[in-house]
Amino acid sequence: MKNYLVIGASSGIGRELASLLNHQGHKVYATYRNTPVHDKIAGVEYHFLDVTEETLNPDFLPEKLDGLAYCPGTINLKPFLRVKPEDFIADFNLQVLGAVKVIQAVLLGLKKAESASVVMFSTVAVRMGFNFHSLVSTSKGAVEGLARSLAAEFAPKIRVNCIAPSITDTPLASALLNSDAKREANAQRHPMKRVGSVSDIAQMAAFLLSDKSGWITGQVYGVDGGISSLKVN
Ligand SMILES: NC(=O)c1ccc[n+]([C@@H]2O[C@H](COP(=O)([O-])OP(=O)(O)OC[C@H]3O[C@@H](n4cnc5c(N)ncnc54)[C@H](OP(=O)(O)O)[C@@H]3O)[C@@H](O)[C@H]2O)c1
Repeated sequence: MKNYLVIGASSGIGRELASLLNHQGHKVYATYRNTPVHDKIAGVEYHFLDVTEETLNPDFLPEKLDGLAYCPGTINLKPFLRVKPEDFIADFNLQVLGAVKVIQAVLLGLKKAESASVVMFSTVAVRMGFNFHSLVSTSKGAVEGLARSLAAEFAPKIRVNCIAPSITDTPLASALLNSDAKREANAQRHPMKRVGSVSDIAQMAAFLLSDKSGWITGQVYGVDGGISSLKVN
């Protein structure tokens, strides 16, 4: 049994990941911010944590931590001229500095594990250019850089990897999937002819957190229905 911390486990991919790890028999420490966790997963331990606060105090964690998944993110799509400099700063604070603060706060615990693993989330919109994605692709590009540099700095004790999903059916993507027409159009853009499910992404995250991926570090994995590498039509 391992100890895992899932930041942002009240919704979407983080919730599914917490459920999966719990089901595998691990101890899961899960955090939420706004979303009230009505349907708590039995066995998972929940704590409030807002990563935009200046200092984070994860004193609820055990001494040794085997893995961390950092799930908070945004999809804030706007024409470039409508994006204000402060929007970039707010996005960077959540997606990049939030991860930095969490990793710094739990690093001693990760170092106490025999082999630990950190998973962060990027987006397919870093590798591929999409209209109106300047905000999210800028922050997520930094997340990928952070993951690679920490993978180098922490090897061989702690592995660090990124998952870069395409559109996945979660509350975060609801505005892009809130009609049959939008859902179908998004499905058809992908070689696999559907949008992602929380399970598609959480299964990859659980694998990267586990010892089964023990020789994988510093990587960015597209879990994206083939959209970033295939042209099938
Ligand atoms: N869904 C997609 O289509 C998609 C595509 C590409 C990449 N991604 C990335 O995948 C990751 C997970 O996305 P998701 O779709 O599962 O998102 P989600 O459904 O919005 O869940 C995000 C989680 O992060 C928490 N969170 C947000 N702001 C926070 C803060 N300031 N402090 C602490 N926790 C905070 C949320 O808590 P509360 O709800 O309690 O606020 C929630 O539990 C994100 O990094 C996202 O950018 C998603």
